[in-house]
Amino acid sequence: SKTHRITVLAGDGIGPEVMDASMLVLDAASKAFSITLDKDVQLVGGAAIDAKGCPLPQETIDSCEQSDAILFGSVGGPKWENLPPDEQPERGALLPLRSHFGLFANLRPGVCLPSLTHASPVKNELIPNGFDVLCVRELTGGIYFGQPKGRHTGEDGDITAIDTMVYKKSEIERIARIAFTAAMTRDKRLTSVDKANVLQNSILWRETVIEVAKDFPEVELSHLYVDNAAMQLVKQPDAFDVLVTGNLFGDILSDEMAMISGSLGMLPSASLGSQNDNGLYFGMYEPSGGSAPDIAGQGIANPIAQILSAAMMLRYSLGENDAASAIEAAVNHAIDSGLRTGDLFTGKDGEKKVGTVEMAEAIAAAIS
Ligand code: NAD
Ligand code: IPM
Ligand code: MN
Repeated sequence: SKTHRITVLAGDGIGPEVMDASMLVLDAASKAFSITLDKDVQLVGGAAIDAKGCPLPQETIDSCEQSDAILFGSVGGPKWENLPPDEQPERGALLPLRSHFGLFANLRPGVCLPSLTHASPVKNELIPNGFDVLCVRELTGGIYFGQPKGRHTGEDGDITAIDTMVYKKSEIERIARIAFTAAMTRDKRLTSVDKANVLQNSILWRETVIEVAKDFPEVELSHLYVDNAAMQLVKQPDAFDVLVTGNLFGDILSDEMAMISGSLGMLPSASLGSQNDNGLYFGMYEPSGGSAPDIAGQGIANPIAQILSAAMMLRYSLGENDAASAIEAAVNHAIDSGLRTGDLFTGKDGEKKVGTVEMAEAIAAAIS
């Protein structure tokens, strides 16, 4: 039996609810596949502000450094929105974690199961078999991190706010390689999304992606401007295989991708950094959605994004591919058998509305 060490950071809002639910499933998978998980639970975000006065305590960073992977819930919420920007959960914990651990590659698989097409806002006749799109989002560069950043008041009393969009060629190259490599394991089609008709960043992005493509001659590469990509995703999502884009565009497009697959509560993510000699990554695994303050505390959040994030962790950081596949199959089974949290419930025949825990228990029970 193998032992892996993970740091568990549940965070705020629905974070602790969906994290608890994912633990039921991880425990079932660990048992079925004889995996020993050494879980170190630590504070992050608003929960850490409340308990310790800062969103990313040193103990939390230390624990992550000693782990093989981080399983993350979500952070933020109205309670902490009026703190100074850099002390808030998002800018004070989530972004620093991504940056500190060099987690530049964010994989967000947007899958609409055939049994869930009726929950998608996309016209169902356009997606008879659902769809499966992988969004590869650059996560440690672009306008999120570029310097200078800040604000100042001019002599005339007017206020200027500045965010700077910066990409180095080397940063574009490495995320492009991740995306091409992913495309090679799928349908071998890659769409690079940019705004090369306006932004210098995007001109360099497009040039660089075209250069990297020479190393992947089997992959069919295309380019879309981000506004058109947003439109095409709604019009015909099953036309896409893999998308690669920068930090801000990827943030926006991945929420869109989540909703057209049925709900934001379905979209997991893997944020990957360096790779070791065994091909495993150090990574942080988190739902693509947030702390959902509007439904927090009610036991109704969809735990699937968190559960599938745990599956991605087993695959990319722990090398437990069989356990990961078993979790994914169990999720599909629960959906196919009609179980729906409120976000997915449409009232169609055969659907049964369940809460967070009931959904997780059904998934855990389906693991074999
Ligand atoms: P959100 O993603 O939290 O919620 C958007 C909508 O999606 C809400 O209606 C919510 O109820 C729904 N939703 C999200 N996850 C769901 C789930 N698992 N099941 C059912 N419904 C779900 O976005 P927001 O409201 O803009 O942000 C709320 C807070 O979360 C903010 O503080 C934001 O900064 C933070 N946030 C954190 C992360 C993160 O920690 N990774 C990601 C996004 C947003
Ligand atoms: C996400 C979130 C974060 C982002 C926020 C909370 C900083 O929206 O993970 O998609 O913008 O990256
Ligand atoms: Mn987002």
